[in-house]
Amino acid sequence: MAISFFTKNKKVQLARCRDDYATKMRLKYAPFYHAMEAQRGTTVKLDGKEMIMLSSNDYLGLSFHPKVIEAGRNALLKWGTSTTGARISNGSRMFHLELEEKLARFLNREACHISVAGYVSCISSVATFAQKGDVILADKNIHSCLWDGIRLSMATVERFSHNNPDDLRQVITAVDSDGPKMMVVEGVYSMEGHIARLPELTEIAEENDCFTVVDDAHGFGVLGRQGRGTVDHFALNDKVDIICGSMSKSLASTGGFVAASREVIEYLRTNSKQTVFSAAISPSQTACAQASLEIMQTEPQHLERLWANTRKYRAMLKSLGLDTWESETPAVPIVLGSKERVYPFWKALLEKGVFTVMSIAPAVPAGKDLIRTAISALHTDEQLEKIAEAMAFAVKKM
Ligand SMILES: Cc1ncc(COP(=O)(O)O)c(C=O)c1O
Repeated sequence: MAISFFTKNKKVQLARCRDDYATKMRLKYAPFYHAMEAQRGTTVKLDGKEMIMLSSNDYLGLSFHPKVIEAGRNALLKWGTSTTGARISNGSRMFHLELEEKLARFLNREACHISVAGYVSCISSVATFAQKGDVILADKNIHSCLWDGIRLSMATVERFSHNNPDDLRQVITAVDSDGPKMMVVEGVYSMEGHIARLPELTEIAEENDCFTVVDDAHGFGVLGRQGRGTVDHFALNDKVDIICGSMSKSLASTGGFVAASREVIEYLRTNSKQTVFSAAISPSQTACAQASLEIMQTEPQHLERLWANTRKYRAMLKSLGLDTWESETPAVPIVLGSKERVYPFWKALLEKGVFTVMSIAPAVPAGKDLIRTAISALHTDEQLEKIAEAMAFAVKKM
């Protein structure tokens, strides 16, 4: 019986899973998927030891804010755990519309559509509005969800150098097509911490009638008035067609949003497969995001603290001679250049009670292997001091 099972089992997919080198390495060195036993703000417990969380995206530190927790609990009691279906089939709920209206107003857009994940919202922001025969101009370093959206659209893709308007101009000039064009960029690049050069990029896009999509997952809550994001930071509201993003970072929830004109959002609700065929975001997650949005507008201290912490942290890394890839935001990479340097550095931080995440090629360009860190408004002065000691220790270990 056992022998016939093995001889019959010729499924290539199973062999792929068994032999996958990246998975083998991941399991051997175990840098990812750690299971924390507890969390309170920026403090987590791992293997019985308290650690400082330095890789989550809780930029404003609202994930333990009492008003956010209360909003989530109340929504759960009032609306139950889930809407158990797509909005097109069993309807929206008033709480969906409420958050969409508030987000649209905050972002100075006519309309907004929220979904279960930033990944979903960002895929649909690209895939729904481009099709075969169109040309998409994409920054080389955009997030995986945007590449997935591009692939699904079946449009032709032309990459331009990261955050480089001169290269965009060259690439767009060489495009041999009078058909529809789209430009896809991030507002703040999540790995690099760079702010997109939106004034120059959108000017070129406009000259070439490009539909413009900005994924502002890491700019929302961090840049602009009260955290309105990168487009607001540059006062370019009328130059961008879609702002999409995530509610799992500054909004301290999970879910995603697409904000645009009413026509664009209604087209999305008809034509986006990710929207039509996927269940709606849950009551409690929507309520948590809405409470965070409210706090962003009424409690400026979180944004102020975030930037004060970021300045202090970056200065400390600089004093240690570490390369932060010219990050301009609370997403701060520590570029070490090879996986042989990244792993001991990451391990040393862990040993000293600081939890980070490594990112190695091909997830980052070759030679840019890095430790990705992100600062939160919740990091205390004492934690920043401990982080500084851990960094100094890790530098010696390299
Ligand atoms: C730039 C960017 N876009 C989209 C996403 C996806 O967001 P979510 O985690 O909410 O699915 C992420 C998540 O890391 C991101 O960094």
